Amino acid sequence: MSASDLTNLLALGSIALFVIGLKRLSRVRTARSGNALMASGMLLAVAITLLEIGLVDYRWIVGGLLVGGAIGYAIVARAQATQMPEIVARFNGFGGAGSALVALSLFWAEVVETAGDGTAVETLGGTSATTLVLSVLIGSVTLSGSILAELKLRGTLGGSPDVPVRGAVMGLLAVGGLAAGFVAVFGIEDPAVASLLVVGLIVASLLAGVVLVLPIGGADMPVVISLLNSLSGLAAAATGFALDNQLLIIAGTIVGAAGLILTQIMCVAMNRSLLNVLIGGFTGGSTEHGEYEHVVSADAESAAMVLEASQSVIIVPGYGLAAARAQNAAYELAQALLNRDVQVRFAIHPVAGRMPGHMNVVLAEAEVPYELLFEMSEINQDFASTDVAIVVGANDVVNPAAHDDPASPIAGMPILDVEQARRVFVIKRSLSPGYAGIKNELFERDHTVMLFGDAKQVLDDLAAELTLARR
Ligand code: TAP
Repeated sequence: MSASDLTNLLALGSIALFVIGLKRLSRVRTARSGNALMASGMLLAVAITLLEIGLVDYRWIVGGLLVGGAIGYAIVARAQATQMPEIVARFNGFGGAGSALVALSLFWAEVVETAGDGTAVETLGGTSATTLVLSVLIGSVTLSGSILAELKLRGTLGGSPDVPVRGAVMGLLAVGGLAAGFVAVFGIEDPAVASLLVVGLIVASLLAGVVLVLPIGGADMPVVISLLNSLSGLAAAATGFALDNQLLIIAGTIVGAAGLILTQIMCVAMNRSLLNVLIGGFTGGSTEHGEYEHVVSADAESAAMVLEASQSVIIVPGYGLAAARAQNAAYELAQALLNRDVQVRFAIHPVAGRMPGHMNVVLAEAEVPYELLFEMSEINQDFASTDVAIVVGANDVVNPAAHDDPASPIAGMPILDVEQARRVFVIKRSLSPGYAGIKNELFERDHTVMLFGDAKQVLDDLAAELTLARR
């Protein structure tokens, strides 16, 4: 077997690891091993590429692995589960920047260092020269867009300022940047002039990323991040074409397609079109509390008495459960109810929380058995025959305005029909709105009782009351 056969075979192994890993990511049970498989596929891909190139000093490679690994570890080790979208945003930005930098190094090697040997297209060929420009463009848009998305998610950058004639500005930046890039690689021999044009391409692309993300509200950032994830994959695929590296083309395309599918799933779950998200139509995070006229609240003791008498309970977790780190307390309450032979289930809305699968992740942390978790489509029809629905730190995903008010920003969004249950308990600290920033009339329904307080504290109190009553 020749050396090139061996690298091809290893490349196939690496691609298989990516594909199998991605498939395993689609289930909570197998996601951890899927992640490990994909990371091994990536390490194998790096090793193969270095073997193929065979030019780089191994001290640089080991140094790069150590520095990169340490930065990745430092970022993730300190992070809470609720910060995951911010971290994904940062890694997308790194991915875009990495692809753009590789494309720029190709430009440097083929145009600047070989000054006078002709234009880039003469040394690189048409496909490489074209995709080099695309890689710099998409990678830079991803970088600046991701930095902005992370700042918005963290709340460092508030609001969603309107950019006048945004479409025209974006178009101008994209066309201007591309024109500068193509002239640099197709028409200019002088490396100084070509480099200046490439700087123009980078600046225009970075600005385009800012204009793309700036007017979009914080509530839509997870969708934007997923789209930027897809763009980082496309940037990598473009770099793959520029370098004629099939492994990078395939890996980039997988990331690009996966990001786009996730974007689509999130848009469908929120009943929004991607265009509507990108236009910035749903600003989210506003503070339209609305006036509440008829709100009944109770304490844990009286709520526990209702729970004692019930036969079926559905717990609906939302962002507040994750924020309060109340997953263990929720499972303890579920166990206290199960000990009393009450049927207990958890209802999971696809966009509850702040990232896809957020509720699954936090409940898995508390080792809530998968058999107790039900997707919205599986459980929605059961609320009508349920004694008590306990809403824990959820708001938008149980807001009946989605059904009842066609003018609501969340009109048409599929929700968990908790109001169908005989009794609804809502655990939250106040009457503040959720991420969509709107009033929730569920809180005023006759059969709704508010249990005000931090989610963990209220759940602990309920479990304690149930345990006490059993003695
Ligand atoms: P939200 O509607 O955001 O409501 C969360 C509620 O939790 C708030 O009303 C808040 O009320 C309460 N809360 C916060 N901290 C709490 C604590 N320590 N203890 C008790 N309650 C606490 O959450 P949701 O129902 O999960 O809906 C998610 C929202 O995010 C939707 O609008 C969705 O479209 C949007 N979104 C989600 C995703 C993904 S992928 N998950 C992506 C994009 C957008 P108090 O302040 O009164 O306590």
